[in-house]
Amino acid sequence: MHFFIKRMSQNKNDSYNPGSPFRGTGAILAIESSCDETSAAICLDGKILSNIIAGQKIHEQYGGVVPELASRAHIQNIIPVVDQAIKLANENLKSDPGNYRDLNLKSIDAIAFTQSPGLIGSLLIGSQFAKSLALSLNKPLIAVHHMQAHVLANLIDDPKPSFPFLCLTVSGGHTQIVLCESPTKMKVIGETIDDAAGEAFDKTAKLLGLPYPGGPLIDKYAKDGNANRFQFPEPQIPGLDFSFSGLKTSILYFLQNAGKSHVYKEEFLATEKEKEEFIKKNLADLCASVQQRIVSILLNKLKKASIETGIKDICIAGGVSANSGLRKAFEETGKRNNWNTFIPDFQYCTDNAGMIAITAYYKFLEGQFSDLTVSASARSGSMFDA
Ligand code: KG4
Ligand code: ZN
Repeated sequence: MHFFIKRMSQNKNDSYNPGSPFRGTGAILAIESSCDETSAAICLDGKILSNIIAGQKIHEQYGGVVPELASRAHIQNIIPVVDQAIKLANENLKSDPGNYRDLNLKSIDAIAFTQSPGLIGSLLIGSQFAKSLALSLNKPLIAVHHMQAHVLANLIDDPKPSFPFLCLTVSGGHTQIVLCESPTKMKVIGETIDDAAGEAFDKTAKLLGLPYPGGPLIDKYAKDGNANRFQFPEPQIPGLDFSFSGLKTSILYFLQNAGKSHVYKEEFLATEKEKEEFIKKNLADLCASVQQRIVSILLNKLKKASIETGIKDICIAGGVSANSGLRKAFEETGKRNNWNTFIPDFQYCTDNAGMIAITAYYKFLEGQFSDLTVSASARSGSMFDA
């Protein structure tokens, strides 16, 4: 791996941290802890040098994230994760001996963290950790909005989209079409009015008896299935908004009726045994059919957004952008409509600190720092409240 350390003699931020051995923004340590992934990353002058992610297996047995357990796991994970992020960044820098600098907590130039939205207990671990480091090391602090960061994951690797671009952000808690005019100027032009796309995947998986998080498992089983075998309804929602709750209900009834009908009628109801057998026999086709419907709901609105705005640089982001069916259909839709399509590398799709670091890099360039009174918030608010 080759990393080029940019030297910007006239950079407007040079005066910000004169003691730093780095130029430009220097090195940013970023921390992400909004849900059940503890992650730390190092970004040097806009280049991600490391992105360490610790998942939390403990939630699998409960069928969803248990907030209290997530907070405790973040406490256990955060120091080793930060430690590994710094170590890996140093290793990567060593592969470019001409530019080698020793990175450590003291030589880092800013500390970034996810401020909102997310589980409050989880956010508090990352934010208190980041604030304590900033206070004790006398470093500037950068508070980052998680959804803005998902969008900007598309600016980590080349080729990058040109502004303005559209981004379909699909995660466990959000489904948004974002019009992005600059790294720090973006507007949500469409969003879900009920469940998020990730929830639609996870709730379907639960109905199929699969463990949490079910999205990746549906993706896996769908690969061997016939997506045209079962038809699920596409909701008719005006404008650029989405809805997934009708789809969820339709899947629920379809399974309760062991495939006889999508509607609730007592005479259609199957026994538990019939239902289990139906699922077992048709798992791959069920996964492929549901996935195809979720993907078509998402891409039909994205096509509409592109036509309405005239924008053809289009990205996807968020945990569901790791879905192979969505990635493939997105590329195909892009080809048919002359879009320039962008998808983050897998490690930057689901929750990760690399995307927090790249967002912090752009906020640093614009002088958007926070003081120590900044607090974590569970609610989404505006992407630019921080
Ligand atoms: O962005 P993310 O990691 O966390 C949130 O900010 O919510 O997204 C998590 C969501 C979960 O619902 C998970 O099931 C879904 O992303 N997901 C997938 C895949 N990988 C993650 N859904 C479908 N297919 C996948 N391969
Ligand atoms: Zn996320």
